[in-house]
Amino acid sequence: DDVKPAPTQCVGPLYRSESQKPTAVVSTGVEFETVTILPQTPQLIALLSIIRNKDTQRGDFIFYSNRIIRLLVEEGLNHLPTVEHTVTTPVGRPYDGLSFQGKICGVSIMRAGEAMEQGLRECCRSVRIGKILIQRDEESSQPKLFYDKLPEDIADRWVLLLDPMLATGGSAIMAVDVLKSRGVPEERILFLNVLASPKGIQNFATKFPKLRLVTAFVDQGLDEKNYIIPGLGDFGDRYYTI
Ligand code: PRP
Ligand code: URA
Repeated sequence: DDVKPAPTQCVGPLYRSESQKPTAVVSTGVEFETVTILPQTPQLIALLSIIRNKDTQRGDFIFYSNRIIRLLVEEGLNHLPTVEHTVTTPVGRPYDGLSFQGKICGVSIMRAGEAMEQGLRECCRSVRIGKILIQRDEESSQPKLFYDKLPEDIADRWVLLLDPMLATGGSAIMAVDVLKSRGVPEERILFLNVLASPKGIQNFATKFPKLRLVTAFVDQGLDEKNYIIPGLGDFGDRYYTI
């Protein structure tokens, strides 16, 4: 069966005993070391509960999705290289810290991935952003590539690939194939994702064993129309049109 049982866990800070914490369904675990799942904190679970709710209206869906996206971007940036960097503080003392190294760009898988661009811009002010338009056929669930426009020097950059939904994995795999055909090595691509299915993770991580994926949550499975379950419905529709 492709639908995993829901793992339930006490959620809350370490200093509280289990009996003081409420339980909630948390992310399914995965066996790939290239996949990072955000810590299942009370904030994240509460934010996800809002965007999963079918009664949540568009304004709140946008606001709370944006908060999750911001968490993903902050975690994603931790996977980029840094170098040692010492600065002098206003009181004349040195501080041995770090600075970022390397050029980056974002690439969104349109349409839903564009919802993640603002969160990336909030952290990386003038970041360049490329676009790949891939649409999943509603009947067959097969992805179709319509368009791409990417920075000229993308092969010299770290690429943050943006798509909130990873269902069968078909769309994300097609997007990575486009990036690789432009000379971006797999190990310099970081895929940021809100909600994944176990099958999508399996397909994607097996195909690209050097590519890092950061997700907020791995759900139980897919339904007969290849929608993620329990899921949140159609992310693009809820963010842009419903
Ligand atoms: C959704 C989603 C992903 C894809 C995931 O996009 O944003 O791109 O489906 O499904 P998959 O893993 O099975 O390929 P959709 O094609 O519905 O377009 P949209 O972004 O315009 O909503
Ligand atoms: N795309 C979505 O927006 N939601 C799903 O559950 C699957 C694909």
